[in-house]
Amino acid sequence: IEFRIRTKYQNQAFFNKEDYTSCRLSDFPENFAFGVATAAYQIEGAARIEGRGPSIWDDFCKIEGKINNDDNGDVADDFYHRYKQDIQMMKSLGIRHFRMSISWSRILPQGTIDSINQKGIDFYHEIFDSLIEAGIQPWVSLYHWDLPSALYGRGSNDAWLGQKIINQFNEYADLCFKTFGQKVKRWITFNEPHTFIWFGYGLGIHAPGRCTQGVKRDDCEQVRGGGNSSTEPYIVAHNVIIAHATAVKTYRDKYQKEQIGMIGWALSSDYNEPFDLENPQDVEAGNTQILFQFGWFMDPTVFGKYPDNMTNQISENRLPSFTEQEFQIIKGSYDFIGINHYTSRYITTQSQAGNDWESDSMIKQSTTNKEGKIIGPSGDSDWLLVYPLGLRKLLKWINNRYSTIDQPNPQICVFENGVTVPGESKKSLEDAVHDQFRVEYYKGYISNLRDAIVLDGINVISYFAWSLIDNFEWSNGYSMRFGLVYVDYKDSQTRYVKDSALWYSLFIQTLNLNS
Ligand code: NOJ
Repeated sequence: IEFRIRTKYQNQAFFNKEDYTSCRLSDFPENFAFGVATAAYQIEGAARIEGRGPSIWDDFCKIEGKINNDDNGDVADDFYHRYKQDIQMMKSLGIRHFRMSISWSRILPQGTIDSINQKGIDFYHEIFDSLIEAGIQPWVSLYHWDLPSALYGRGSNDAWLGQKIINQFNEYADLCFKTFGQKVKRWITFNEPHTFIWFGYGLGIHAPGRCTQGVKRDDCEQVRGGGNSSTEPYIVAHNVIIAHATAVKTYRDKYQKEQIGMIGWALSSDYNEPFDLENPQDVEAGNTQILFQFGWFMDPTVFGKYPDNMTNQISENRLPSFTEQEFQIIKGSYDFIGINHYTSRYITTQSQAGNDWESDSMIKQSTTNKEGKIIGPSGDSDWLLVYPLGLRKLLKWINNRYSTIDQPNPQICVFENGVTVPGESKKSLEDAVHDQFRVEYYKGYISNLRDAIVLDGINVISYFAWSLIDNFEWSNGYSMRFGLVYVDYKDSQTRYVKDSALWYSLFIQTLNLNS
């Protein structure tokens, strides 16, 4: 097996009994799915071989200064060639659930179904076969941000800004269901639409890098005809929501009954504590922020419309509304509620006027509260503040808002949770594998997950750690390491298991033994 362990597995001080009792493993439901998550562009590499077409991320990485160190996903973790070893590694760590994504342009280099790349199809078949043989269940995202370049670049009505893409995405999704549906029983249409839409069309810091006036950052660039940051994100989101719902309908109409699977999407949300507890506006601001990040997408699928907070604040010529026909398709288009969660902040309304890219209101985020208290330590990434209770509170928020007559206790999947360790990118390999900070993060968040299930009665059915291995962290390039397993980029992508991987491994296997 091609990975190395440099950590002291038997370290008593590290693996003391408290590590387990504090997580009360036996409290988790018997078939609860603990897993690890990844995404195609972040790990696969092999960007220009065996028929893969370019994606908008290949193009974006070529623009100087967009990505830290001008890194790109050409090689990444070379998962394309190393997947067999990585799957063996997961098996030996006792991992039973693997979240990954399909690269649209690897199987459809032109984006459309008239040119299928058989080698790409074969690649994913091999992965799914190897996973299943290793006793690992695949959970598969169809869109983790790597749109085929062929579908982008023909004007401002193009790709997610236009309607044609709804059918193109549906045909791609249909092909995946048809081809892989006997092996894949858990489908995720889109990963974090809020992130790729705001970063790609509002701030211009992710592909395709469109943005204009009204944004606070000055590092954006007008790409191929420019953009309009105050309208495009809402148009794109609208089309993405309809594309999601259309693919769900296709799955349900043609495949779900026979294939016995589930489908939904993975949305993102932070959690907010009020800057000033005694100020009701600050309390409400926290709610509004979640609605603008998470409710923007989830509300339409549950209630068939955007949150009132959004329709009240954003004028009609910016925020589209759903037609009766669209309403019929989007309402109820989920089998589970998928959530990626990493961080929390203090939030206040006491800020200068102007559009805030996240909430389109006068809401301001703060790392400290009124008393100057910080919410929690920061990871290597400055946006990531550790506040484990935030997960429990967010799950409660989701459950409260989305418990309906049809789904009184909706199934919730935590699809991502993880952290970078302060200073990790500059540490030597020997130091980096001892990531006690990450172990503490997981212990804290998993304990709160347990509380959400056991004490609050919330129907959470899965939890995925982000990520199995260090990988291409978008505009941060390889400088941010989210992996449970270290990747030595200087030495042909060799893997080294970190302490956190060993802790997680022991944790999930004890769970399996107890249940
Ligand atoms: C969410 C995204 O889905 C993933 O691609 C990214 O690497 C992590 N957050 C960490 O930032």
